[in-house]
Amino acid sequence: EQELACEKDMSGLKVLVTAGATQEALDPVRILTNHSSGKMGYAVAKAAALRGAEVTLISGKTNLAPPLGINFVPIASAKEMFEEVKKFYREQDIIIKAAAVADYTPVSFSEEKIKKSDNDLSIELKRTDDILRFLGEHRQKGQILCGFSMETERMLENARTKLQKKNLDLIAANNVKVPGAGFERDTNVLTLITKAQETKLPLMDKEEAARYVLDAALHLYREKK
Ligand code: CTP
Ligand code: CA
Repeated sequence: EQELACEKDMSGLKVLVTAGATQEALDPVRILTNHSSGKMGYAVAKAAALRGAEVTLISGKTNLAPPLGINFVPIASAKEMFEEVKKFYREQDIIIKAAAVADYTPVSFSEEKIKKSDNDLSIELKRTDDILRFLGEHRQKGQILCGFSMETERMLENARTKLQKKNLDLIAANNVKVPGAGFERDTNVLTLITKAQETKLPLMDKEEAARYVLDAALHLYREKK
């Protein structure tokens, strides 16, 4: 019923969404990851598909069922996500990076399980590639780039810096400390930031938040045409 009621205002558009947490393996039994549930990104992918877009969803491991009618690409690590993004980004009209990508990954992977000893353990980490920054540097003609910004302090200032540094059209900022926002919840409190304006959205469920993000991205896309 929802599908029938939905206006197909994104038909003909290719939309790439990344979602979920990445996992960085330390040894065969251990990973470094974060609390991202993937709900926000999956809601965006589903909403875009219902609006008629051709959707590719590159996703880290989540407990969610992949939305129907999309091209689903599961990955584990930040490196794998980057490899898949590089395969798909060129032909996309709109890219929405909702994934919580690891900023650091272990310098080396231990083929055998790391055994405990009497000493403390340190894990050496190295930086991962910033996928969104790559996309900003390799932006295709007419393409719209949207990031998410997860903050615990100075949300607007930090999000605006990311918008500019990564050469984005839109960033959806949220402060995970605000009640009702952030990880593993069904609701979110987003502020949508473009070069021109800032829109503070009220607390709403992630499905509705996804619609606002897509509305903003579609508006920017049409503006650029
Ligand atoms: N991002 C990415 N590749 C990374 C890290 C982040 O594509 N290696 C993307 C995320 O998907 C998100 C945006 O960049 O859309 C912002 O992520 P966030 O973690 O909030 O910002 P960072 O730039 O990583 O900065 P920091 O974690 O230091 O706040
Ligand atoms: Ca980060």
